[in-house]
Amino acid sequence: MTQLKPILSHLDPIIPSSTGKFKSSPYAVHRLRFHPRLTFWSFLFLFFLLLFFFCSPPAASNAGKRRSLQNTAYSARARPGPNWEVKARNSARPQSKSGVTVLVTGAAGFVGTHVAMALKNRGDGVVGLDNFNNYYETGLKKARKSLLERRGVYIIEGDINDAALLGKLFEIVHFTHVMHLAAQAGVRYAMQNPNSYIHSNVNGFVSLLEACKNANPQPSIVWASSSSVYGLNSKVPFSEKDRTDQPASLYAATKKAGEEIAHTYNHIYGLSITGLRFFTVYGPWGRPDMAYYFFTKDILRGKEIKIFEGADHATVARDFTYIDDVVKGCLAALDTAKKSTGSGGKKKGAAQLRIYNLGNTSPVPVGKLVSILEKLLKIKAKKKFLPMPRNGDVLFTHANISLARKELGYKPTTDLEMGLKKFVKWYLSYYGAKKKSAW
Ligand SMILES: NC(=O)c1ccc[n+]([C@@H]2O[C@H](COP(=O)([O-])OP(=O)(O)OC[C@H]3O[C@@H](n4cnc5c(N)ncnc54)[C@H](O)[C@@H]3O)[C@@H](O)[C@H]2O)c1
Ligand SMILES: *[C@@H]1O[C@H](CO)[C@@H](O)[C@H](O)[C@H]1NC(C)=O
Repeated sequence: MTQLKPILSHLDPIIPSSTGKFKSSPYAVHRLRFHPRLTFWSFLFLFFLLLFFFCSPPAASNAGKRRSLQNTAYSARARPGPNWEVKARNSARPQSKSGVTVLVTGAAGFVGTHVAMALKNRGDGVVGLDNFNNYYETGLKKARKSLLERRGVYIIEGDINDAALLGKLFEIVHFTHVMHLAAQAGVRYAMQNPNSYIHSNVNGFVSLLEACKNANPQPSIVWASSSSVYGLNSKVPFSEKDRTDQPASLYAATKKAGEEIAHTYNHIYGLSITGLRFFTVYGPWGRPDMAYYFFTKDILRGKEIKIFEGADHATVARDFTYIDDVVKGCLAALDTAKKSTGSGGKKKGAAQLRIYNLGNTSPVPVGKLVSILEKLLKIKAKKKFLPMPRNGDVLFTHANISLARKELGYKPTTDLEMGLKKFVKWYLSYYGAKKKSAW
């Protein structure tokens, strides 16, 4: 209807109507019938009216699309660049005979970059997809992108909610696997922008699963859930069978929703889906919103760091897991994934549905994290201890990884000291080099 309005208002002064000038004129009827100019305008009006009816379905749906884009979060504006189809096809070509073809969503992110690199290094075909949203410094995402580009991995700039883009992508590349790492990560940011979690972790996940279900052949999917689904669960260590119905944050709730949505798509469409519950992943090219990262930044600047404590000064602890160990777990999950059974959007038989913890099995108190950083940076931190605000963070995490060890051969080998050493080395060279190039 919005389309009709400008036309009507444009013709308004000329259309004879029951109100206004024409009615008051005794010649109105006469003029309407015989005035050549008015006859011309009437035909023109009829023409536009018919035109409107012929065009109305697409016009209406366009308007609908525009509205839904406005309603989605800040990041839906991402668009692929010129020649993206050609670049995607080239990037998707495996280098080794046994190589698979993997779509990595969130490829400009921390874990995505490492996984994409590892896949490429062993000869797989890899295409990345990322919307480069500004949740944290986009410069870091761009730098990761160039890193991958130098190795021949192309990242499409686009949103997982863009169904048309995904449809086209699955049409031109036959992905055997999808490594789905795109998400709104972080726990605290939900208090500022709750919608971004729904946009990427719920709507976006469904949009991606729709594309996978429609693809021919259907790919096998491995995706990142989170240790946060254990929420207020106090039984340690966290095992896959433990309850996950008490999320302590919106982030956790969207990851839990993802696990249930995965169940549905597996059940109805025969998609093979594996969920990985990551436990505090850290390392080079890491995420600036995570404590180990901004503690390093603040210690170097001589800024005070806030260390949160539970009730009665209970220490907060995390099962920190080094990125290389997580990457091995991701690749093992891809390699052991069975094929999806559906085709053309229809299920042919039961398909695989798995969930694994990927942790390190050794929780480290945050105080210990800080003392390792102090040693590596050779700077004493200015510490301030504060009671933990109720913003979604949990007191501790601790993974039971015996299932992943048994079925994926997953065996983390890097302890926090060794991992942080590698992180700090990277941090100093990355920001050091940036400072130099800025001069
Ligand atoms: N790093 C951890 O400790 C940890 C722990 C548990 C779970 N996870 C999960 O692992 C995955 C990877 O995390 P990360 O640490 O690499 O985070 P990250 O923020 O560095 O990477 C996520 C990437 O996804 C992209 N993205 C977000 N929404 C998108 C959308 N709608 N369309 C396209 N791209 C989008 C972002 O731009 C970003 O580059 C996420 O699903 C995260 O929730 C991470
Ligand atoms: C760890 O998980 C396995 C199942 O994968 C279970 O058999 C075992 O009892 C758990 N261990 C602990 C200490 O909870």
